[in-house]
Amino acid sequence: MISQKLSEARVYEIKKEAEIAIENRPVFHLTPRVGWLNDPNGFSFYDGLYHLFYQYNPYRPFWGPMHWGHVISRDLLHWTYQPAVLAPDQPYDNGNGCFSGSAQTLDDGRQILLYTGVSWEKQSDGSMKEIQQQCIASGDGEVYEKYEKNPVISSDQLPKGYDRSNFRDPKLWKEKDGSWRCVTVSRNETNGGGVLLFESSDCISWKFKSVMAENMNRFGRMWECPDFFCLDGAYVLITSPQDLSADEEFHNGNNSVYYMGNYDKNQHMFHYDAVYSLDDGLDFYAPQTMLADDGRRIMIAWMQSWDSNIRPEGQKWSGMMILPRELKVKDGKILQRPVREIENYHRNGVRYEKQEVQGTCRFDGIKGRVLDMTVEIAGGDFREFTISVAQNEQFHTDFSILQHKNRIEIDRTYSGMVRDANAIRRVKVKTPCKKWKLRIILDKYSMEVFLNDGQQVFSTTFYTSLEADQISFACDGKAIVNLEKYDIVVA
Ligand code: FRU
Repeated sequence: MISQKLSEARVYEIKKEAEIAIENRPVFHLTPRVGWLNDPNGFSFYDGLYHLFYQYNPYRPFWGPMHWGHVISRDLLHWTYQPAVLAPDQPYDNGNGCFSGSAQTLDDGRQILLYTGVSWEKQSDGSMKEIQQQCIASGDGEVYEKYEKNPVISSDQLPKGYDRSNFRDPKLWKEKDGSWRCVTVSRNETNGGGVLLFESSDCISWKFKSVMAENMNRFGRMWECPDFFCLDGAYVLITSPQDLSADEEFHNGNNSVYYMGNYDKNQHMFHYDAVYSLDDGLDFYAPQTMLADDGRRIMIAWMQSWDSNIRPEGQKWSGMMILPRELKVKDGKILQRPVREIENYHRNGVRYEKQEVQGTCRFDGIKGRVLDMTVEIAGGDFREFTISVAQNEQFHTDFSILQHKNRIEIDRTYSGMVRDANAIRRVKVKTPCKKWKLRIILDKYSMEVFLNDGQQVFSTTFYTSLEADQISFACDGKAIVNLEKYDIVVA
């Protein structure tokens, strides 16, 4: 049975989706059916299809009581909207709604969603306190039914000192022996909290196992959206810490980071010794990974920052996802590359070899707003090299290599922004290099740059008018470049 709140959301989203012209959305990056989107949820492969759910407020292009939107895909580039699956319609989630969570397939073939229900609890002094607890819903890929005895992990199961108002974002997986585990995050006033591990034999009855990793007040005020997996023989923990102060690795505000370390299987403790940023652009948060049937660890994330929503006035959707990325671990660090499926949509290839860039140059056929381009700097002598995209007389968004400073700079000052939001990001090149290779994915309103085979990635949105489709290269010395560019045509 679908609740009235969910059926109202379903009627509303179909009606309002029709008011958004398809031309006004990116081509292969997921945007909400209508209204607001933040974190990816329940990224999974079920019944022959990729399923992705997302934090969703259909009614306004701003955050509000959280629903779960739903899309399916065969190739991670075409997304087909499905009706919303969760609405804030139960006593345990009718406060701020159905927060982030994950999905897996149960032994009986149903898909299970494990999410955070956010409710209000009246206190003895009459004030209301927000309570976050973990809940389940199961379904067939279309319709999901919430479990009548939710929550399945109550805030009473938190160890001492952890905050019932900040206990969320369960990431679920199945162990080889068929039992279930999930990690959640929770805040703790003394040390900033950490990642908590729970265990279950049936996905319904859960036991607290351990505080798997602790913040120790080192990385932000609170961690959000944990993920934990073994990849290429190494254990990886991912979280999105809130309110960091910048240093050489991280930028100010909310970041998404990964921790490399050792997992003690007996104590259920993850001891990390290295922590890195996952993306150094202006827009990246709350990543979630899934294990694809072919063994790939694929990551998706929200391509926006909580602090700078630069959505143009009047646009009826807010927020988009990155193009999913394949992850690998090499030499103790994660390498990221766009999912290989994008190569099936390469069209109109243009190639240049050993071209000299001195001053500002353009190349015939190197332009557009929906493309996959690789720029290799094969030689030369320069201090700064800049690629400007989404360019016309008025606008441009720049990606610069500041070789003499060992820095990368992204500048979207001239991208038509009318908000006083962060427009420039300058970050260290974290793996020293002599040669530069940039793979740049553009999809109308975003640029994702993969530096040197994904050692560092930079995701940034800009809502420049689409006539700005020129690309230029500028160098303060001389650079020899190889270029390869394909339009992405996703019919
Ligand atoms: C991260 C987050 C999650 C929470 C969700 C609410 O962006 O704050 O911790 O579950 O968004 O929409």
